[in-house]
Amino acid sequence: MNRYQNQRNFLKSNFNEFSNKNTDKYLGMPKPEIMKSYNEKSQVIDLPTDYENVIIKETIYDCIKDRRSNRIYSEEALNLHELSYLLWATQGITGTTKAGLTLRTVPCSGATHSFETYLFIMNVDSLAPGLYRYLPVHHKLLFLSAIHDIDKKVDEITLDQPFVPNFARKAAVLFVWSTIPYRSEWKFDITAHKKILIDVGHVCQNLYLASESIDAGTCAIGIYDQNMIDEILELDGDDEFVIYLAAVGKKLK
Ligand SMILES: Cc1cc2nc3c(=O)[nH]c(=O)nc-3n(C[C@H](O)[C@H](O)[C@H](O)COP(=O)(O)O)c2cc1C
Repeated sequence: MNRYQNQRNFLKSNFNEFSNKNTDKYLGMPKPEIMKSYNEKSQVIDLPTDYENVIIKETIYDCIKDRRSNRIYSEEALNLHELSYLLWATQGITGTTKAGLTLRTVPCSGATHSFETYLFIMNVDSLAPGLYRYLPVHHKLLFLSAIHDIDKKVDEITLDQPFVPNFARKAAVLFVWSTIPYRSEWKFDITAHKKILIDVGHVCQNLYLASESIDAGTCAIGIYDQNMIDEILELDGDDEFVIYLAAVGKKLK
């Protein structure tokens, strides 16, 4: 068998093998949580909601036209309004379905939104460097932990980069998206996994376009150490694991 065969088949639609009647949703299993729970005693940071003022480039045409992967950043910090805007643009909740699922700034198969957003914050005004998680239901940030030598850690996680070596460590923030596949499997069973990968592309594209609108640069990162990052984030690598990263920083003037 061609050594790519299994991977190629994964890219295809398997809706002809799918039966709605096999799904956990159909079988009456409880709906998975929309957002991962957290300890109420943890430090939670309010994010500003008046973030429209940070937009410099206003037309969608210009943002699409000018977008590029940007791997060289200035030393200027992102401010909290800018970070808040980027979080809203990538996972912000803008509605709900009758079934109680969330509608967001990004499209997602069946509104299942299987992602959690973790941030390695290195250079954001008024935030201590460290690891955070976005709480989309509240539009707040959850502080998870300080990380010793965070830029070095980001460097190790992002392995050898082919274009600009070690660029991620110089970013202001590293976005890290994990998936909790069961949120999609509950509804889509064996067809969930291809959808999850497509879904996350929409999230990162919004990060690219929103960054462009605030004179920040983004670069998607698919080359990373899976075990290391899952371990740092304390994810079990099965029910939740990282699938995509992106570095963001202000552009060099
Ligand atoms: C899924 C995906 C993974 C990527 N992974 C990396 C990466 O690990 N390192 C990197 O420097 N660029 C990465 N990129 C950026 C691409 O190299 C870049 O989009 C491509 O060269 C086209 O350039 P442009 O985005 O400036 O148009 C990735 C892009 C995508 C969509």
